[in-house]
Amino acid sequence: MTYDVEALRKREFPWAARGERIFLDHAATGPLPQRARDAQAEANELRAELWRVGFEYFWDGVVRGREFAAALINASPDEIAITTNTSQGVNLAARALPFKAGDVVVSTAGEFPANIYPWMGLEKAKGVFLELVPMKHRLPDEDALIAALDRPNVRALTVSWVSFATGARLDLARLGAACRERGIWFVVDAIQGLGPAVLDVKACQIDILATGAQKWLLSPWGTGFAYVRRDLVQELDPPVVGWLSMPASADFTRFLDYDYAFYPDARKFEVFTAPMHDLKAMAASLSLFLELGPAAVAAHVASLADHVVAWCDGRPDVRLITPAARARRAGLLSIAVDDLAAASARLSAAGVSHTVREGGVRLSPHLYNTTAELDVALAALVPR
Ligand SMILES: Cc1ncc(COP(=O)(O)O)c(C=O)c1O
Repeated sequence: MTYDVEALRKREFPWAARGERIFLDHAATGPLPQRARDAQAEANELRAELWRVGFEYFWDGVVRGREFAAALINASPDEIAITTNTSQGVNLAARALPFKAGDVVVSTAGEFPANIYPWMGLEKAKGVFLELVPMKHRLPDEDALIAALDRPNVRALTVSWVSFATGARLDLARLGAACRERGIWFVVDAIQGLGPAVLDVKACQIDILATGAQKWLLSPWGTGFAYVRRDLVQELDPPVVGWLSMPASADFTRFLDYDYAFYPDARKFEVFTAPMHDLKAMAASLSLFLELGPAAVAAHVASLADHVVAWCDGRPDVRLITPAARARRAGLLSIAVDDLAAASARLSAAGVSHTVREGGVRLSPHLYNTTAELDVALAALVPR
């Protein structure tokens, strides 16, 4: 199947097809494709008169959400727990992995705080130290991260796959192999990479992955998922306990037969009740990625990013902060210009959604954007 971006825009992003907005800000929050809007609107409507459908109608979003999330990252649905954001998954890793006093968790400077504070919290709670490896040329330093794993008492490495500020993408397969060789847990915040790039949790030997779905997965706020490697699902105790994590709660006529025994799968880490209408929409959005094919989506986004990289190349008035090599970036591109505030104002005046972060203008195109849209943005970025 060819990647028909015009058909995709018409079907799923009609406002983009009509030219109402050039949306290049998926690194902040993604818009909902039409199918997710429809699913959410229908579920919301039925929620208002919920006697019209059975509870299975709502629960179906949860079940398909787990299935589609698993398919997206080469996991199995029994390794997926529905969460409401990235932080919940990071906290799950920090609190469920059996750390003890004196253990060290390694990460990189420049991390988004969602993958920092939960680990800082461990110092107070358990005497576990977070060590941040300095960046090199203002980018995460993969060699130094691997070298840091050999320091005493290191038990875990936690990184963002793609940096929120620079768009630098780490080689998860390399880091995962380095962790596995040393018996170190590997935790990944995938929110800035999943969707625009392909991720295989098995090939990358990831132990726990956390992601919200509100950005590149084009899903409502309050939706997301965590992956926990199957062996760890068995070993770990959930740090917070949900009533629907117990098979005993499945029989609604026997609630009071308390039986403190978890499901043998990642449902043990879920804490329900969740936003069910929004999870219906998340399932719809994830289905779009699976239909288009994650590799086809990644190829489209990579070609858009190539366009920006080529434009920056050789220009004296801009500096691409994001690494230029394809393997070292996903959909997030950060560009330094002389006067950030003025550049941002010009982009806004041109109707281009973007953000300014850490010294760069962040343009983050996705599966339905076009090079023509990028050209409008790039022309606005620097005055002629
Ligand atoms: C790398 C990274 N992690 C996490 C988040 C958000 O965390 P949460 O989904 O918990 O709000 C963001 C952006 O907001 C991010 O860029």
